[in-house]
Amino acid sequence: MEQIQERIQRKAAEIEGIIKAYLPEETGLQRRVLEAMNYSVLAGGKRLRPMLMQETYRLFGGGGREVEPLMAAIEMIHTYSLVHDDLPAMDNDEYRRGRKTTHAVYGEALGILAGDGLLNLAWETAMKAFALEGRADENLQDTSGPGERNPREESPRLRRVASAIAILAQKAGVFGMIGGQTADIEAEGAGQVSMEELLFIHEHKTAALIQAAMMAGATLAGADRQQVEQMERCAYDIGVAFQIQDDILDVIGTAEELGKPIGSDEKNHKQTYVTINGLEASAGEVERLSGEALEILASLEGDSSFLRELTAFLIHRRK
Ligand code: IPE
Ligand code: IPE
Ligand code: MG
Ligand code: MG
Ligand code: MG
Repeated sequence: MEQIQERIQRKAAEIEGIIKAYLPEETGLQRRVLEAMNYSVLAGGKRLRPMLMQETYRLFGGGGREVEPLMAAIEMIHTYSLVHDDLPAMDNDEYRRGRKTTHAVYGEALGILAGDGLLNLAWETAMKAFALEGRADENLQDTSGPGERNPREESPRLRRVASAIAILAQKAGVFGMIGGQTADIEAEGAGQVSMEELLFIHEHKTAALIQAAMMAGATLAGADRQQVEQMERCAYDIGVAFQIQDDILDVIGTAEELGKPIGSDEKNHKQTYVTINGLEASAGEVERLSGEALEILASLEGDSSFLRELTAFLIHRRK
């Protein structure tokens, strides 16, 4: 059997191809911003969010291609969030994904514009899902409950695409990722942060996009409301665990492995799960949350074996 790490790498390489197909040609008087956008997306990265989206889509029986533009879109949104996160006005970091950050290479103005460009391109890309056909034998029966049906809605598939894009918009926005980034920045040097505030930050800045990935994947595949809510809970656990592990690696990781500087949180006087609870308790919390996610996944009818292996793999990730 192929090892989980190799399977993850193989899937990431496939995802790379999907993302590339939606990246812009570097042309025209705006060429510089297009270069900066491609530079940051093509720098690599684990491609975790599109992977979670695709695998959750498959878990709930999805077999079409309309998930692909949304996979590319969520990686564009994630990448823009990193480009902006690294700006001098935010975390002020010089390395990301093993190379100089976008603003370090292209200048601050282009860093801002490249982020803006990626966010907008994400929506243009996501909309392309409307034009992609689902699998011919896909079950398109209406899964909404009685009384929820809008008789004017003709195509369940189109409605699923619309719902998935709405989830992505909400989770990436001010009530999701941007809200978390705001609270994170405001908490810098603002005295003692409570556990409640810290969990708000982790849930929003990081778990929200993981939730978007899994909820959109499930929605596209036709999962019902309860199943989508289960994915929201599962992705909360995975996402908060992921950010705690990120905070751990900011202390005990290496820049070579991570592709980004360590000690960024300390430099910015950020309170993290690690500064508040210590390394050991933080590692324990990553395990506990991941265990909860694994239980949810195991309780589902479909084959969640890859998602479970991926979740377990992330507990001890070094990058
Ligand atoms: C980094 O995300 C930002 C956090 C939410 C911790 P990733 O660790 O997924 O970054 P890439 O995409 O692999 O570079
Ligand atoms: C960033 O958290 C989360 C988002 C970019 C939304 P961090 O600031 O800890 O991420 P890294 O460590 O720079 O990747
Ligand atoms: Mg940050
Ligand atoms: Mg940062
Ligand atoms: Mg970090």
